[in-house]
Parts: sequence; structure tokens; C-alpha cells
Amino acid sequence: MPTLTVTTRSGETRSIAADPDASVMRAIRDAGIDEMLASCGGCCSCATCHVFVDQPQLDSLPPMSVDEDDLLDISEHRTACSRLSCQLPSLDGLRVTIAPED
Ligand code: FES
Repeated sequence: MPTLTVTTRSGETRSIAADPDASVMRAIRDAGIDEMLASCGGCCSCATCHVFVDQPQLDSLPPMSVDEDDLLDISEHRTACSRLSCQLPSLDGLRVTIAPED
């Protein structure tokens, strides 16, 4: 079972076990971390599941779609490490930080 490391908005870092078939967004919510709205349920239309991925791990992730890129452009907190967690597979060892709320 993949293990993810998640840093919350308050700065708490937790290791969570993820279903290998679940997105990072789903894994975070299933672990009881409920500070991400994820209001569209994972269909890439809300951008409320914004996370920052540890920079060295960015290249191990699937490329960003045009829709994800457009949605992230709405965020005033976007960085080069920004991704939408509903679009990310739960890769073992992945480290993410939940972005501030827009
Ligand atoms: S949950 Fe809506 S874009 Fe990820």
C-alpha cells in the first residue's frame, strides 16, 4: 500500500496509507484530513484540491492536462510545484503540502 506524506495548512506533517487506485485527493480525505474542499469530487473542475508537490518528485507524475493548468491559473497561490491532487496517482513516497485556500 503506498504511503504519502502530507503537510496540512497548519504545518502538521502526517504519513498516510493510500489505496493504490485512489487519487492523492481521495487518499488525503480518506485519511480524515478534511481541509481541502475538493468540491467537484475529483472531476477537475474546481481547483479546491490544490497541493504543492515536493519539487524533485514533479517529474515522476503524469503530465498536467490543459484543464488542470487552466484551473491552477485561477489560484493566487500557484507555484511551479502546484498540482491538483485529484489528478495525481497515489505514488509511494509522494510528499505534498496542501495549498492555502483561495
Ligand atoms: S477536486 Fe475539484 S479539481 Fe480536484
